Amino acid sequence: MRAALFALLPVLAHAAVVDKRASADVGSTTADVFPPASTTVNSQAFPAESVVGYPGLTVTGVEPAAIQTATAYAYNNGKSGNYPLVADVPEDASPDSNYDIFKYWGNLSPWYSVKSSDYGLPDASPVVPENGTITQVHLLYRHGARYPTDGAPPSAFAARLANATKQDGGFTAWGELDFLNSWTYKLGAELLTPFGRLQNFELGVAFRQQYGHLLNNFTEAGVLPVFRTESQDRMVKTAENFAAGVFGVPEYQDQVNIEIVVETNGLNNTGAPYETCPNSNIASRGSIGSTAATAFAKNAFNGTISRLQGQINGYTVTPTDIIAMLQLCSYETDALGYSAFCKLFTKEDFENYETYYDISFYYNNGAGSPVAAAQGKGYLEEFVARFTNTRITTSDSDVNSTLDADPTYFPLNQSIYADATHEVVLLDTFTAFNLTALFSSGPVATDKKSNSSFVASKVVPFGTHMHVQVIEVPHMTPTKQIRFLINDAVIPIDQSYEGCSWNKDGLCAFDTVVAALQKRIAEIDYDYDCFGNYTAYPGIDYNGRAPRS
Ligand SMILES: *[C@@H]1O[C@H](CO)[C@@H](O)[C@H](O)[C@H]1NC(C)=O
Ligand SMILES: *[C@@H]1O[C@H](CO)[C@@H](O)[C@H](O)[C@H]1NC(C)=O
Ligand SMILES: *[C@@H]1O[C@H](CO)[C@@H](O)[C@H](O)[C@H]1NC(C)=O
Ligand SMILES: *[C@@H]1O[C@H](CO)[C@@H](O)[C@H](O)[C@H]1NC(C)=O
Ligand SMILES: *[C@@H]1O[C@H](CO)[C@@H](O)[C@H](O)[C@H]1NC(C)=O
Ligand SMILES: *[C@@H]1O[C@H](CO)[C@@H](O)[C@H](O)[C@H]1NC(C)=O
Ligand SMILES: *[C@@H]1O[C@H](CO)[C@@H](O)[C@H](O)[C@H]1NC(C)=O
Ligand SMILES: *[C@@H]1O[C@H](CO)[C@@H](O)[C@H](O)[C@H]1NC(C)=O
Ligand SMILES: *[C@@H]1O[C@H](CO)[C@@H](O)[C@H](O)[C@H]1NC(C)=O
Ligand SMILES: *[C@@H]1O[C@H](CO)[C@@H](O)[C@H](O)[C@H]1NC(C)=O
Repeated sequence: MRAALFALLPVLAHAAVVDKRASADVGSTTADVFPPASTTVNSQAFPAESVVGYPGLTVTGVEPAAIQTATAYAYNNGKSGNYPLVADVPEDASPDSNYDIFKYWGNLSPWYSVKSSDYGLPDASPVVPENGTITQVHLLYRHGARYPTDGAPPSAFAARLANATKQDGGFTAWGELDFLNSWTYKLGAELLTPFGRLQNFELGVAFRQQYGHLLNNFTEAGVLPVFRTESQDRMVKTAENFAAGVFGVPEYQDQVNIEIVVETNGLNNTGAPYETCPNSNIASRGSIGSTAATAFAKNAFNGTISRLQGQINGYTVTPTDIIAMLQLCSYETDALGYSAFCKLFTKEDFENYETYYDISFYYNNGAGSPVAAAQGKGYLEEFVARFTNTRITTSDSDVNSTLDADPTYFPLNQSIYADATHEVVLLDTFTAFNLTALFSSGPVATDKKSNSSFVASKVVPFGTHMHVQVIEVPHMTPTKQIRFLINDAVIPIDQSYEGCSWNKDGLCAFDTVVAALQKRIAEIDYDYDCFGNYTAYPGIDYNGRAPRS
């Protein structure tokens, strides 16, 4: 798979690196022990999903049947790399084209390894720099592929099509749209799909392989890790599949405490900040990106609308339908393994589809949003608490002080932290962290195909994840360094944090970064950004914070 191929290169480049942990006699047999002796999960403090409740909608769909519905079989190592999904080439590409439509689906793309060079660090690798020793990793990751959220465009398209069959003469489709004559809507809502489970399981397997030695820290301390997630069904399953990847089945049930924090309106949850930030749901504040993306789509697909309208009678194809059908391409592929919708669209359509998401996310949750930093502030505070082994004493954000004051629910002094959340929250958090390299080309244009450094499918895809590595590097001063990786791309932080200079590996002194983040926490005005009366407009880089009039 693609991720594995990318990962090989740095390993080869660093083949000469000595394992600094190897202190036993050469050739002797060594072994580690995990879980720590006489530990058990605390099922009283960390009850299961059935006890916690608040699972959200759990609408099931039709069983996939890719073995007979796909036009091609999903061999492993297929060119797309997303085993076992199959996707067609675009309408205007030759059958043997390498054009990878998976990379133009915004937040519906399966995650893939992004190059550090995309953000200006051509020589950086996720592998710890020479002679470095990693002491701590902080993981923030998204659920894998899911069904559409409640009320997303695909089901509305299906309803309009169903309604059209009930009118006089119904509708007739032919040519490229012939399949619509017998198409049905097969997707559920909100739940993880089988491929989504695989993505989180794989993230877990990779995490154990990359950072497993940090579990020795837990063995020494005699405690089990705590992995956090939210109560929505897909979030619980995400954390469980990730844990199954890390620890194995059934071991994950005994070797990690999975903390399910309730996600519902009005409750403080750093993994679901929109539940306590009213402005996040107001059109002129938190969702200016959605409005701008919809406006963009009205002009972007005219040629395709004409072409498809020429192959259907009794149904008027609208720009909203084009987005719905592109989303059906993504969702059916992610959920059912194959979609007949994909080959309806040209390369330009897929690029415009990605732009639609670039606009939406940049202005809803990125630098162009007035409430992104406020929504990411809670995680930012929690990360800093973990960096500094210091409890949060005062917070104006969505931190739940009952949980975070309690060492059972918010342990400090750990070598591994792993929290699962939603893509909007990851991006809010990157914005709160002031990771401005993601947005370095300025505001995303709202009227034309994107040529921005901000590409949604690289930052908010299914399975997207951030690793924050704390590394001891003996030849640097100070030796305690930190860096940020998003989907394997090392993100430069010299522009983000005062006192950091450019470093080819994306490193900066730990204390310098922590001091800058503390300043960032102080400057984010949660109360005003989430509750204030202001109007925001697309086209502006707000650094994620509300404008003052
Ligand atoms: C790594 O350590 C070795 C052995 O001490 C030394 O020769 C080498 O210069 C170090 N590399 C860096 C980049 O400092
Ligand atoms: C069904 O289609 C008819 C004819 O286009 C339209 O008048 C009506 O509003 C539609 N109903 C729904 C529920 O969409
Ligand atoms: C904080 O978390 C506790 C424990 O889950 C919960 O009972 C409480 O309602 C939460 N408080 C807020 C304000 O969200
Ligand atoms: C696309 O079509 C719409 C509706 O017919 C029209 O208003 C708009 O000007 C067209 N845009 C382009 C770029 O052709
Ligand atoms: C929830 O967040 C609000 C806003 O920051 C805060 O006033 C309140 O104390 C928090 N509740 C808990 C239990 O942390
Ligand atoms: C962290 O853990 C180590 C090892 O168990 C212990 O020596 C140290 O006191 C702890 N530090 C804090 C701040 O709890
Ligand atoms: C575990 O790792 C943390 C973070 O690096 C560190 O503070 C702590 O001392 C370590 N504990 C042990 C027992 O080594
Ligand atoms: C898009 O951006 C790249 C990199 O900044 C630049 O080389 C290229 O010329 C730009 N293309 C357009 C059409 O603006
Ligand atoms: C955030 O980054 C911008 C530039 O990238 C910088 O001007 C600003 O000072 C940074 N903010 C903080 C709090 O460091
Ligand atoms: C918000 O501000 C606008 C413009 O100043 C004003 O018209 C409106 O009444 C205010 N709304 C509230 C709830 O204060």
